[in-house]
Amino acid sequence: MNVEIALRDRTYEVALGEGVRHEVFDFIRESCPRAKAVVVVTSASLRAQPWFDFVHEARVPVIEVPEGESAKNFSALEALCEELAQHTLSRDDVVVSVGGGAITDMVGFAAAVYLRGIEVVHVATSLVGQVDAAIGGKTAIDLAAGKNLVGAFHQPLRVFCDFETLASLPERERLSGMGEIAKCWLLEGRDVRSLKATSLAQLIEMSVALKATIVGEDEFESGRRALLNYGHTLAHAIEALALARDADELRHGEAVAIGLGYAARLAHALGRVDAGVVVGHDEVLDMLGLHRNVPRDLDTMDIVRAMGHDKKAHHDLTFVLAGAHGFEVVAGVDPETVARVLESFRGEA
Ligand SMILES: NC(=O)c1ccc[n+]([C@@H]2O[C@H](COP(=O)([O-])OP(=O)(O)OC[C@H]3O[C@@H](n4cnc5c(N)ncnc54)[C@H](O)[C@@H]3O)[C@@H](O)[C@H]2O)c1
Repeated sequence: MNVEIALRDRTYEVALGEGVRHEVFDFIRESCPRAKAVVVVTSASLRAQPWFDFVHEARVPVIEVPEGESAKNFSALEALCEELAQHTLSRDDVVVSVGGGAITDMVGFAAAVYLRGIEVVHVATSLVGQVDAAIGGKTAIDLAAGKNLVGAFHQPLRVFCDFETLASLPERERLSGMGEIAKCWLLEGRDVRSLKATSLAQLIEMSVALKATIVGEDEFESGRRALLNYGHTLAHAIEALALARDADELRHGEAVAIGLGYAARLAHALGRVDAGVVVGHDEVLDMLGLHRNVPRDLDTMDIVRAMGHDKKAHHDLTFVLAGAHGFEVVAGVDPETVARVLESFRGEA
């Protein structure tokens, strides 16, 4: 199945399915006839996976970058750009990222800035990468001051989401992807009763289709794309606080799941939705195996302050919330209500 990201002259497709990775280099040959060089960028552990066969078959050079989030910094970016230069990559050539969201983010950013922009193809191998990170053209690296603070919009030529690569994905990474899938299910307003009968492939397709529609309407996040941040105000705050002490404590999607449970309660407390919406959120999260426990030893007021620092919040407490007219961005939410609902949410655990 292919899903189109409709962006006028930059329209591209996301190829989804079992084995689609084997189409990557034929696609590049056909769509970039002037390309003389193609290089693949991945990490050492991903290079050792059985599904990396498609790169071996193509006999293209492979550049290794650090694992996961440790690839998203200036020193890894600089090393990668130096290697691209050593391979004498020109503006007609193509870089292929193979990995989770960290690698597609960092390689996407390198492709945005190297020679002021070269073509990139993403082969997303994690669930977060397939349903979210590799799609939509947001690329970034981290600063000590926070995640994703340096980046660019740079759309790929195509994204490949091969379900077979997910076979080697650790359980916690799978669950993290489920957090983003839960967000999409809830944003779509789908009924929890049909969730059980929906396969993982269908869940990925639904999430990609939703992101495709929203990115097609608002590429640069000046409006509707912000809805994709549903659950993310609390998620970003607890992720940042947890990350400051232990990188392994909380995966992004786990934090998003907690944020979704909280956002439903906040919407209810503000009189925007009835209690049934809270129950509906909890049922979806439970069915996808996601918990709603804010890490115990984080202080509620520290979390509220961190929510105010969210880079999308414009210096007040801003949330995506459900309401009578669907989901919308709600700015300037009263901090006392935010703290009270958070305390009571934490008390449920
Ligand atoms: N650009 C965007 O729109 C966007 C959206 C969401 C998230 N992100 C970014 O994505 C990153 C998170 O992505 P992630 O959750 O994929 O994490 P990740 O890329 O750090 O990968 C997590 C771990 O899973 C491993 N892995 C990936 N695929 C695997 C596979 N098939 N088999 C075995 N191991 C595999 C990685 O090597 C890594 O150790 C964050 O940096 C986040 O900021 C970006």
